[in-house]
Amino acid sequence: MARILNDYPSVALKPEDLDGKIDFVQIFGRRGPVHIEIGSGKAAFLLNQAMTQPEVNFLGIEWARKYYRYAVDRIGRWSLKNVRVIRTDAAHFLTNFVPANSVECFHIYFPDPWPKKRHHKRRFFVPANLEQLLRRLTPAGTIRIATDHAEYFEQIQQVLTTFSGRLEKIEFFPTAGADVGEWVGSNFERKYLKEQRPIYTIAVRKV
Ligand SMILES: C[S@@+](CC[C@H](N)C(=O)[O-])C[C@H]1O[C@@H](n2cnc3c(N)ncnc32)[C@H](O)[C@@H]1O
Repeated sequence: MARILNDYPSVALKPEDLDGKIDFVQIFGRRGPVHIEIGSGKAAFLLNQAMTQPEVNFLGIEWARKYYRYAVDRIGRWSLKNVRVIRTDAAHFLTNFVPANSVECFHIYFPDPWPKKRHHKRRFFVPANLEQLLRRLTPAGTIRIATDHAEYFEQIQQVLTTFSGRLEKIEFFPTAGADVGEWVGSNFERKYLKEQRPIYTIAVRKV
């Protein structure tokens, strides 16, 4: 039987309540570094990382309603105070609501690869979105990416290369929830590892 999912107003950030650039201090009720996960799915990364780094404020952006509701329920049941989740399109949200120089780290784990060529334009990791990410990163802020899709990884690396004067490559460390042999420990990574797909990772720092 499907689990009943609860809404937790302390976790769910509603797009309709936002009015211009957001104030992270107000949203989290405290100061602190902000990490944003783009496409947070069922929130496995957010859950584990937020428990390990209670001093960090985590925001998950998730478009799909079923994953968003699952994530809110999961974070709420664990009573985590340092995580918020919003259901919206990440590119739109970044451009219109996230202030410049406000985010210490963007986490992008297993972004939809849109494998058909005619759908490539739907991919998140394109130059215009990287420009938005860089503007919103704090000095020395980082972007961490993992994917199972070789061709999309190729594109990601190419896009990063075109911004090479503004970022430098750094080591990608496994996240708090990663088990042995994993990088992220998210639902999609576990599914792909079961299918024996290779996982590609890259991390960069704003210079
Ligand atoms: C392949 S899943 C990965 C989920 C999770 N990161 C994981 O590793 O388990 C990609 C997720 O990104 C979400 N997504 C795709 N495009 C998005 C967008 N423009 N804004 C927010 N979320 C998006 C999808 O709904 C989906 O949940």
